[in-house]
Amino acid sequence: RFYSIIPAGGIGSRLWPLSRADAPKFLHDLTGSGSTLLRGTWDRLAPLNGEQRIMVVTGRAHRAAVEKQLPALLDHNVVLESEPKDSTAAIGLAAAILRRREPDVIIGSFAADHVIADTRGFGRAVREAIVVADAGYITTIGITPTEPAIGFGYIHVGGALPVEGAPSARMVESFVEKPDLETAEQYVAGGDYLWNGGMFISRADRLLEQLGETSPALLAGIEELAEAWDTPRRGAVVDAVWPSLEKIAIDYTVAEPAAASGRLAVIPGDFDWDDVGDFASIAKLHSGGRKSDLAILGENARVLADASSGIVVAGSDRLISLIGVNDIIVVDTPDALLVTTTANAQRVKSVVDALKLSG
Ligand code: GDD
Ligand code: MG
Repeated sequence: RFYSIIPAGGIGSRLWPLSRADAPKFLHDLTGSGSTLLRGTWDRLAPLNGEQRIMVVTGRAHRAAVEKQLPALLDHNVVLESEPKDSTAAIGLAAAILRRREPDVIIGSFAADHVIADTRGFGRAVREAIVVADAGYITTIGITPTEPAIGFGYIHVGGALPVEGAPSARMVESFVEKPDLETAEQYVAGGDYLWNGGMFISRADRLLEQLGETSPALLAGIEELAEAWDTPRRGAVVDAVWPSLEKIAIDYTVAEPAAASGRLAVIPGDFDWDDVGDFASIAKLHSGGRKSDLAILGENARVLADASSGIVVAGSDRLISLIGVNDIIVVDTPDALLVTTTANAQRVKSVVDALKLSG
């Protein structure tokens, strides 16, 4: 009854100029493992229920790249968007399509842009989440926070859940998406908060019901699309409905309100997890948590480094040479060059925001 959904659409602006609209974060190999984040996500999910039951939601422009990464992806498991409408539309539409095909389907949505090495630990947590979802809860997987990061959702963990077969499941008291720094500091200091790992496991009908309570117009648009999806009317309905969908993350439309009404559960994950949010976290991934001297991204990158440490370089085919510099990030692309320090890696997003403003 389980079906996986991979929403693959965010741009990842803190990884500019490597990650951008035409080559988003999930299409890059950021770990040096030889496979992209999207492919890594697929490989983690395939052992759970097979490659025939993984649906990918992505932009029309990324279709070719996604299919090249995932040769086993079936045509009826590809959902293409004409423009990005954030994760509620992406996940909601996939859930609505699947529910029409299989009324009692349990869906699990898994972000395309994470790194998890412990596939077995991940699988254990998801299997437990499926049991909890079957009992009617919308279920998240929580990650133990290591710092007051403001880019995540925070889960206030409540009491044990009386669901057989899910010993580690807990109720969620509240869910707060991307709090400000002061609030995040309080949460992390308090101890009974987990980061939201960006995964949602639920009966499709429960998820859509929850969405309908807070965002009835968005749900109506999604259901109109889903109804036409497997028919010849799909194209016309997409053209008519897609542009009008509200652009909003599922953390606001489903997770926050579900927690407020006692329908959100969490499985505390006991596996490694990294969202590779910026270039500083890439430096850590390449060195197994320690500070590495040199992390190189890009198959053709040529780098010479002398008396330098803590370097992240992403290059194309031009030779990059670094001498006597420490904790530096250099990202060289044909039309844009970024130079910053690992301490400032989070601020890359503001450059992108400024670029957007200046057109
Ligand atoms: N298809 C599609 N279309 N996918 C999208 C779109 C879209 O318009 N927008 C986002 N996504 C996908 C991303 O590719 C990713 O797989 C997932 O939805 C989450 O979106 P992000 O934009 O990466 O969200 P975030 O990282 O800011 O926050 C989310 O993830 C955090 C963990 O990394 C939230 O769920 C947080 O609560 C969570 O802590
Ligand atoms: Mg993300």
